[in-house]
Amino acid sequence: MSDSEQLIIEVDGKEIEAEKGSMLIQATDNADIYVPRFCYHKELSIAANCRMCLVEVEGAPKPLPACATPVTPGMKVHTKSDVAIKAQQGTMEFLLINHPLDCPICDQGGECELQDLAMGYGSGVSQFTEGKRVVPEKNIGSLIKTDMTRCIHCTRCVRFGEEIAGLKELGATGRGEHMEIGTYVEKAMESELSGNVIDVCPVGALTSKPYRYSARSWEMREAEGIAPHDFLGSNVNFHVKGQKVKRVVPRENPVINRVWLSDRDRFSYEGMNSVDRLLKPMAKNEGRWESVEWDTVLSNITDILGSKTAPEDLAALCSPSSTNEEFFLMQKLVRTLGSNNIDHRLRQIDFRGQNLESAAPLFPSLEEIEKADLVVLVGAYPRHEAPLLNLRIREAVSRGAKVIALESYSKKLNYDTILRKLVRPSEIVTFLEKILDCLRTENFGKLADDDEIVAHEINSANRPVVLTGMMVNQHPRRSEILSIIRDLCALSGASFGTQLEGANAVGAWTYGAVPHRNPGGKKIERPGEVFTEIVATPKRVYLLFGIDPILDCAKSSTIKKSLEEAKFVIAFSAFKNTCLEDVADIILPTALYAENEGSLVNGFGSLQAFEQAV
Ligand code: SF4
Ligand code: SF4
Ligand code: FES
Repeated sequence: MSDSEQLIIEVDGKEIEAEKGSMLIQATDNADIYVPRFCYHKELSIAANCRMCLVEVEGAPKPLPACATPVTPGMKVHTKSDVAIKAQQGTMEFLLINHPLDCPICDQGGECELQDLAMGYGSGVSQFTEGKRVVPEKNIGSLIKTDMTRCIHCTRCVRFGEEIAGLKELGATGRGEHMEIGTYVEKAMESELSGNVIDVCPVGALTSKPYRYSARSWEMREAEGIAPHDFLGSNVNFHVKGQKVKRVVPRENPVINRVWLSDRDRFSYEGMNSVDRLLKPMAKNEGRWESVEWDTVLSNITDILGSKTAPEDLAALCSPSSTNEEFFLMQKLVRTLGSNNIDHRLRQIDFRGQNLESAAPLFPSLEEIEKADLVVLVGAYPRHEAPLLNLRIREAVSRGAKVIALESYSKKLNYDTILRKLVRPSEIVTFLEKILDCLRTENFGKLADDDEIVAHEINSANRPVVLTGMMVNQHPRRSEILSIIRDLCALSGASFGTQLEGANAVGAWTYGAVPHRNPGGKKIERPGEVFTEIVATPKRVYLLFGIDPILDCAKSSTIKKSLEEAKFVIAFSAFKNTCLEDVADIILPTALYAENEGSLVNGFGSLQAFEQAV
């Protein structure tokens, strides 16, 4: 229960507490009293258009929709009285008039809210003998399959687009029986959160295209996982049939992803079933790749890493999305061999400020961002970098927060901004210095210049937040930018968050996958080489964990040259990869996220463990 004012109502003869101002359905949900519904969704606005939630309220002349009836002190409600049940059955009869009821060939069968409620409230016989309406299928892209004849016009998908995704892509045209949900002009959905309409749709009108007809809900088991595509660590459930992940759905976590998932977290499981998966260890023999036994390859690696490799001649580069356990073991291997040359910051090229950065750089909580009254984005594109972070910024905007975006190119933001300033990457340091100067001198001039406006807004906000993105992370003057922003935040009391690459950068710092800190964050007296140094001078042996040296790293031409010059390159990869095949000598197959067990630390410092799904 929240701190807000509570009142007492009576439902089905039982007294329950309800939050003042809440709707009846919220009170009954909190008290575990079930009221049927289609259009109501706890994360969306109330539409009250399906009428499935009709209940009897004493004193009211007719049944009232529980989702749109505010609670009042002492109200007496009956959810299962004859009046309520008759109203619910009537609604169901109307809904089924135009519904195809083709459950056996419907992908939603077995997990369909309409199917379930038709069992509970539907009649065995329909009085409707006329022809049912048919709505042609609409192609809205490669991820979502439409069967709009099954649509019951609850508008959850439309409200999701408007309120959560921030893109009005789906809407209703026509009225009554002729109402149709679609994209107005047929086109693919563009939202990076589009897959969530599959979850909000209570029927089989919107289903997953990649998953279509591949399993039934009752054939699959569920395993808990953590999504590895951004620093949020969204909670997911894998739905598994046999030894195959068939789909990924959100696992509710009110602090992180709530009930949502980004499309890449939802659909990337398809890669796990790719024909390019590497399944056996491979070794190069006179320029040709051969598969080898684990014992042989491990003994070869032991020889390579043994006495012949001096500590300074060994280096490891790890994907920033590796697990804590992988980071820990890789740094242990490297450090046991006397080297500190290990890094996961593969797109960073300025390491001057690394000693000033905390052992585990942390981001302000999503709740803090949601409650901010000013969000300043510096070189950040949260829509693509962390879509569910973007959702919280949208939430802040809907509560009245202002947004300022300092960006190097114009991005498709899905909220209003009070200032969008295009700043060349080469000029960002100077621009930020000017803002800092304005704040220090409290001289905002006549707010004629953009830097003065930014400084004034930060200065006058009550809960400002400054967030940096990948442009800053990859900037050649990253350390100066971060240092100016830190000063700026210290002066103004703003919270500061810097987005790091990958899903487990904080885990990498915590578990020692940096050259200057041991696991636990203890500083090392004689630090090893950072990423740029590791690739600048060729080593005898490179260990590459879960990376594509060209696509995942900055300075790709330098790294390729160094890898070509190295005596041995030992790669760990889940996939066959032409770049690795060019430069590596041994490639060991690795498990992907659902095939592994382990843990990740998200950008807010939460350690999240996950189990092996397949
Ligand atoms: Fe059956 Fe539900 Fe599919 Fe309709 S949407 S055909 S009720 S499973
Ligand atoms: Fe509701 Fe699904 Fe129809 Fe959208 S497509 S209005 S979510 S039934
Ligand atoms: Fe209340 Fe639809 S759930 S009217």
